Amino acid sequence: MDTQVVNETEGDQRGQHAPIRVAVAGATGFAGQELIRLLARHPNVTITAATGSQSTSAPRRLPALARIWDGTVVPLDVAAVAADADAVFLGLPEAASAEIAPVLLAAGVRVIDLSGAFRLRDDAVRSRWYPATKSLPGGVAYGLTEFEFEAIRTAKLLSNPGCYPTASLLGLLPLQRAGLLLPGADIVIDAKSGISGAGKAPSDRTHFSENHGSVAAYNPFGHRHAPEMEQALGRSVTFVPHLVPLDRGILSSLYTRLVPGTTPAAVAAAFDAAYASAPFVRLTGDALPEIKHVAHTNFCDIGWKVDEATGRVFVVSVIDNLVKGAAGQAIQNFNVMFGLDQKAGLL
Ligand SMILES: NC(=O)c1ccc[n+]([C@@H]2O[C@H](COP(=O)([O-])OP(=O)(O)OC[C@H]3O[C@@H](n4cnc5c(N)ncnc54)[C@H](OP(=O)(O)O)[C@@H]3O)[C@@H](O)[C@H]2O)c1
Repeated sequence: MDTQVVNETEGDQRGQHAPIRVAVAGATGFAGQELIRLLARHPNVTITAATGSQSTSAPRRLPALARIWDGTVVPLDVAAVAADADAVFLGLPEAASAEIAPVLLAAGVRVIDLSGAFRLRDDAVRSRWYPATKSLPGGVAYGLTEFEFEAIRTAKLLSNPGCYPTASLLGLLPLQRAGLLLPGADIVIDAKSGISGAGKAPSDRTHFSENHGSVAAYNPFGHRHAPEMEQALGRSVTFVPHLVPLDRGILSSLYTRLVPGTTPAAVAAAFDAAYASAPFVRLTGDALPEIKHVAHTNFCDIGWKVDEATGRVFVVSVIDNLVKGAAGQAIQNFNVMFGLDQKAGLL
């Protein structure tokens, strides 16, 4: 990871030029519909294709987006999509992304993949969590926009971060980069997600009657977003995700210890420095943020509290999993890749 934070003045005035042709694969999914909703009003793009799986050959419409986008969703034909796109967003299961992204890259199309297929650099770790990805193509960048700006700019394949890692890393990396996290101390990531994080296919866990009125922990020590966060932080974490009865949103509560003598002012200064020019990170200090504050936006709100007596720090970071955790961050990264203002279509 490079350490350059986002410069919001970067980008040319591409609005003067021909629109960039974009396609969305997985347009009937939760993340895909959010992509279409945002891209339909993006000033610099034209949507040339929106595809679903081949489960039905009949064209489909997206009723929730009527009058925002009135196109039809067709079964995915990779060659046809590649022939009429400068960039393709993949909102697909990771096995489908692992298969399709290399084909698009070979056709000269830039790819923004929302799945986990290309997030993990280490072959052994990746083959455990994402076995369908046999190798990493060249030109891949991990798209945590606020910390990877230079790599994103030239990426051919943009691997968009997971929703839990986006919220959690944005809350932890400023402290880690400033050298304030106590080496060897456990980092506990206790995160709550709305149900749309699991995608549209219903399961026992995500069924309304199971989830409504309840909160459940799942996959302690066994969630594939843990290695993604460990890769970015360079140290291990204790990550326990929870499902909460909301349709969207993630709240990540982060607990760890600071190097002795760290003051609240030093913590605040680390956050301020990291996000001085980041348009989508809002720092709230000890006014702890809530999911409601970021729902349906590309913002990540971060608050914190330092207990100087014990050296403990608590950070809370909230995002909308379908926007900053998926479609919004993907478009933010697309904007950086194509030299646009990173806020285009998002603010
Ligand atoms: N949901 C989130 O909060 C979130 C956040 C970050 C990242 N992600 C990642 O983003 C990706 C999409 O997530 P999602 O929640 O939007 O999933 P989803 O609601 O289950 O939607 C999946 C989409 O992929 C299509 N599809 C499924 N199998 C396919 C295949 N073999 N070939 C072509 N298209 C196929 C589906 O089409 P049909 O309608 O025809 O089935 C649908 O459009 C996943 O990799 C997920 O891990 C999701």
